[in-house]
Amino acid sequence: MSSEQSITDATGWDLYGIALEADPHARWRTIRERTPVLDAGEGVFFITRWDLVDEILRDPRHGAGSGVSSSFGASNGLAFDTMRVWLMSLDGPDQARGRGLVQRQFTPRQIKGLRPHIAETTDRLVLAIEKSSGDEPVDLIERLAFALPSELTRSLFGFPEAEWRDEIERVIQEVDDSPGASIQMIEGLAQVFEGRLARGDVPEGLLAHLQVPDPVLGALSTLEVIANAVLLVTAAIDTTAGLIGNLIHCVLERPEMLERLRKDPRIASALIEETLRFEPPALSCSRRAGETIELAGVEIPTGSQLLLGLAAANRDPARYARPDEFEPDRDFQGLLSFGGGRHVCLGAALARLEAQIVAHRLLVTSECDFEPLEKPHWQKKNPTVRALDRLPVHVRPRTRTPRGTE
Ligand code: HEM
Repeated sequence: MSSEQSITDATGWDLYGIALEADPHARWRTIRERTPVLDAGEGVFFITRWDLVDEILRDPRHGAGSGVSSSFGASNGLAFDTMRVWLMSLDGPDQARGRGLVQRQFTPRQIKGLRPHIAETTDRLVLAIEKSSGDEPVDLIERLAFALPSELTRSLFGFPEAEWRDEIERVIQEVDDSPGASIQMIEGLAQVFEGRLARGDVPEGLLAHLQVPDPVLGALSTLEVIANAVLLVTAAIDTTAGLIGNLIHCVLERPEMLERLRKDPRIASALIEETLRFEPPALSCSRRAGETIELAGVEIPTGSQLLLGLAAANRDPARYARPDEFEPDRDFQGLLSFGGGRHVCLGAALARLEAQIVAHRLLVTSECDFEPLEKPHWQKKNPTVRALDRLPVHVRPRTRTPRGTE
C-alpha cells in the first residue's frame, strides 16, 4: 500500500467523502502534512497547502473545474445541461460575458440597498424565536440560519411567499443523502424556472433581470438564464445558512467570545471572518489545469482536475498560527473561503452582511440567551458544504451581569 493510500482510500472525486467523516479537519491536516498535492487518481489532484491553493486560484492559465457538477454526478439531462452552462463551468469570453451579466444584480450599491429587508426579516425571525422562550427546544438552523437567506433569495427573485415555499424550498428541503438526490434538486429547480419562462410567468426580480440584454455584453440564452437562476439559488442559500449557523455555533460554544461580543459589538466582523476560516461553509472549489505544471514536486498533466481544499488550506499553520484555535484577533488576509481569481464568489459581501445583522440582533441586542442542547450535528447531504443540520437551543430570558461587577 502506498503512503498516499494509507492516508486516504478515496480516489478521484470520492475525496469529497472526507467532509462527511466525524473529524474531517484531522484528516485534511494529515493529508496536507504528508501530501499537500495528492494524486487521487482518475485525473484528480487534491491540493491542501495554503500557498499552493492560493497560487492555483491566481494563475490565469487554469480554467473552470468540474468539481461541483462531478460531485452531483449528472452525465445527461436537464441537470447536466444546466451545470454545463452555469457561470461556474465557463471559461474565456463566455465566462466574462456571463459574469458581467449576472453580477449586474450584485453591485455594492444593490447589496447595501438590501440591508433594511435583511434587518426587518432578521428581527421578525428572532422575535418569533424569543417568543418561544420556555422548555420547548428551538432549532436555530431551521428558524433563522436557513430561513433568512431563503427569504432574502425569495425576495430577490420576487416570488410570492407561498409559491417560493411550494416550488423552491420544497425542492431544496427534499434533498436527502441518497445517491442522485442533488441531481434531482438541480433538475427540480431548473424545471421550475424553465416552466415559468415558457409560461411567461416571470415575477419582477432576478429571473426577469437575467433576461435583460446589455448593450455591450449581449444576452444570456434561455438555458443560461435557467442555469444561473439555479446557481444563484443553490449558491446563496445553503452556504449562507452554513455561515450563519457555524457563526452562532462557534460563539455559543465559547461563552467568553459571546461576552466579548456583547461588550464590544465591533468584533462581530472578526468573528465572522474567523468562522469563515475555522468552519468554512464551502469546503472546496476546483479548476482544470490549463497546462502541465509541477506543484510541490508533483507533475500535474494538462486537463487534470485540481480539487482545492479551502477548508484544509485555511488551517495551514504556515499561513495562520495555531490554526485549530478559534481566534478572532488574527490577521485574516488571504482567506480562501470564497475562492479566488476569475470565479471568486459573487455573493461574499451579501453573505457577510446577513451574518453581521444576525450576530447583532441574535447575540448582542436580544433579551434572550440561547443554550445549545446537543453536540454539533453536521449535515451529511452535501459533501461540499460544512453546515449544521440542526442547532436546538433552549431560549431563556437573558441574565445580565449586575452593574459594577463587570
Ligand atoms: C457564506 C456564504 C458563501 C460562501 C462560503 C460561498 C463560497 C463560494 C465559493 C468557494 C465559490 C467558488 C469560487 C471559485 O471557484 O473561485 C463561489 C462561487 C459563487 N458564488 Fe458563492 N458563496 C457564498 C454565498 C453566495 C451568495 C449569497 C451568492 C449569491 C447571491 C453566491 C453566488 C456565487 C456565484 C454566482 C458563484 C460562481 C461565480 C463564478 O463562477 O464566476 N455565493 N461561492
